[in-house]
Amino acid sequence: MDWRVRVFDSLSFPTLILRLDKSIVAANHIFLERFKVTNDFVAGKKCHEIFFEAEDSCPIIGSCPFTMVLADKKGHSLLRRFSMKDGSARWEERVFSPIKNASGEVIYILESLRDVTRIKLLEKELRETEEFLQKIIQSSASAIVAADREGEILLMNRAAEDLFGYSFEEARRLRSVERIYPPGVAREIMRKLRDDGEGGKGKLPSMKTTVINKAGEEIPVEMTAAIIYEGDKEVATMGIYNDLRDKLAVEKKLQETQAQLAQSEKMASLGQLAAGVAHEINNPLTGILFYANLAAEALGKDDRLREHLEFIIEDVERCKGIVKNLLAYSRQSGTAKDIVQINEVVEQGLALTRDQRLFGGVDVRKELSDEMMLIQVNKNQITQVIINLIMNACAAMDGKGVLTLRTYRDKDKMKVFLEVSDTGCGIPPENLKRIFDPFFTTKELGKGTGLGLSTSLGIVMEHGGDIRVKETSPSGTTFLVELALYVPGEDGDDFADELKEK
Ligand SMILES: Nc1ncnc2c1ncn2[C@@H]1O[C@H](COP(=O)(O)OP(=O)(O)OP(=O)(O)O)[C@@H](O)[C@H]1O
Ligand SMILES: [Mg+2]
Repeated sequence: MDWRVRVFDSLSFPTLILRLDKSIVAANHIFLERFKVTNDFVAGKKCHEIFFEAEDSCPIIGSCPFTMVLADKKGHSLLRRFSMKDGSARWEERVFSPIKNASGEVIYILESLRDVTRIKLLEKELRETEEFLQKIIQSSASAIVAADREGEILLMNRAAEDLFGYSFEEARRLRSVERIYPPGVAREIMRKLRDDGEGGKGKLPSMKTTVINKAGEEIPVEMTAAIIYEGDKEVATMGIYNDLRDKLAVEKKLQETQAQLAQSEKMASLGQLAAGVAHEINNPLTGILFYANLAAEALGKDDRLREHLEFIIEDVERCKGIVKNLLAYSRQSGTAKDIVQINEVVEQGLALTRDQRLFGGVDVRKELSDEMMLIQVNKNQITQVIINLIMNACAAMDGKGVLTLRTYRDKDKMKVFLEVSDTGCGIPPENLKRIFDPFFTTKELGKGTGLGLSTSLGIVMEHGGDIRVKETSPSGTTFLVELALYVPGEDGDDFADELKEK
C-alpha cells in the first residue's frame, strides 16, 4: 500500500479527500467507522449527501469554507454546534486544507472533522467561573482595586467606584494607582508589601490609612493589600478598602458624650458645693445686715460713720443677691410659684446684671407692654433665665450696642412673651442647633460654662413654656421666651374680668 494512503488512514480525525466539485475521492478508516459506511458507498458522492443526506445542495453552503480555500489556497475552518439524538450538544470543527500540485495549484481538498466538545465545555466552565468571580468581586461591600506592575488600574469594583468617586473607565485613565493615595503613601504600601516583616512577603495586614477621592477629599480607610504573583514574578497588586468615616463619626460622638457626661458630673458636684457654701454664707450675711442696720439706726443722721455703715449694708445686700442667684441656679431655692407681673421679673433681671463688668456700655431699650401680664412662676428661676439671656446678649455685643427688652401678650392664645434682642455678632447656622446643648459654648476656656441656655431651657420647659431664637443674623439676635398667661379663678372672678377688659 502507498505510504500516503497509510498516513491518510492513520489520521485520528475522520477525514475526506474532496475533488474541487466537492465529490468524495476517499474517506479514511476512522471516517468509515464513525459514519458506518464503506469507501464504495462514499466514493463519488458529494460531502453534503453524506453529512446531511441532502442530495441537491449543501445546507451550510453559505458558511462552508470550501470556496475560501479555493480562493486563497489556504486552510480554513468552521465551527458547528449540533444536537445529538439524546439531546446533548456537541461541537465540531471542520478543517479544510488544500492539497496542491507541484505548480501550487489546488487539486484536492482535505476535510477533517474534529470533535471540540470538550474544549468548548471547558471554555464554558471557565467563562462561568470568571463570571462568578466577577459577581463576587462586584458585590463585595469592601472596595477592591487591582493594578498592574506599572500601576495602571485593572479592576475596580462597584464599592470602589462609590468610595473613590471614579467610574472604572475614569480610574483607568488616571494612569497610576498612586493617585488614589496622598503623596508617598502608595510607595510606602509597596515597601511594606515587599517586606517579609509585615504579614509576610506580598501581604499587608489590615492598616489604617487615607485615600483621596475624585473630589480631592481625604477619606480615612482600613485597608489590606497583596501582591499577586505568577510563580516568583509580581504581576499585579490589589487593595481592599473599608470606609472608616461612619465608624470614626460614631467614635467621636461617643467620646463627646463621655466628655459631656464627665463634665456634667463635675458641674453637678460643683453646683452642690456652691449651694452648700451659699447656704452657709446666707446666715452670717443676715447677721451682718441685722447688726449693721441696728448700728446705723443708733447713729445720728449726719454721723459720718452712718454713711460708712450704709455702704456696708448696700454691699451685704448685693452679696445676698448673689447668694440667692447661686441657690436659684442649683435649684435649691425651692419650687414655690409666685404670681408676678412679667415686667417686674424683667426689671429685676436687668438690675442684677447692670452692674456686671460684661454689661459695659450697652444701651438698654425697654419696650415693656403695660397690659396685665401675670405669670405663675418660680420667680428666682425665671429671673435666672432673663439674666442668662441678657448676659449672652451683652457678650455678643462685646460691651457696646443696644439691648432691647420687649414684653407683650396674646390674650387669645393665653400667652406672655419676652424678647431679648441684641445688636451683636449673631449665631452662625451651624451652631444654631447646638446652643441649647449643655456645655456648648463658643467662649474661650474658663469664660463660659455653656450651661446658660441649657439651664434656661430646662427652667422654661418646667414651666410649660418655650424658649427659642426668633431671628439671628450678623447684625444681631433675638431670643423669644413664651410663658402661660396667668388668669386667676377659672370661673371669672374680679381679677380675670379686669384682665379681660384690659
Ligand atoms: N445673643 C447671642 N448672640 C450670639 N451668640 C449667642 C447668643 N446667645 C448665646 N449664644 C451662643 O450660644 C452659646 C451658648 O450659650 P450659653 O449661654 O448656653 O453658654 P455660654 O454663654 O457660652 O456660657 P455661660 O452661659 O456659662 O457664660 C454661646 O457660647 C454663644 O456662642
Ligand atoms: Mg451664657
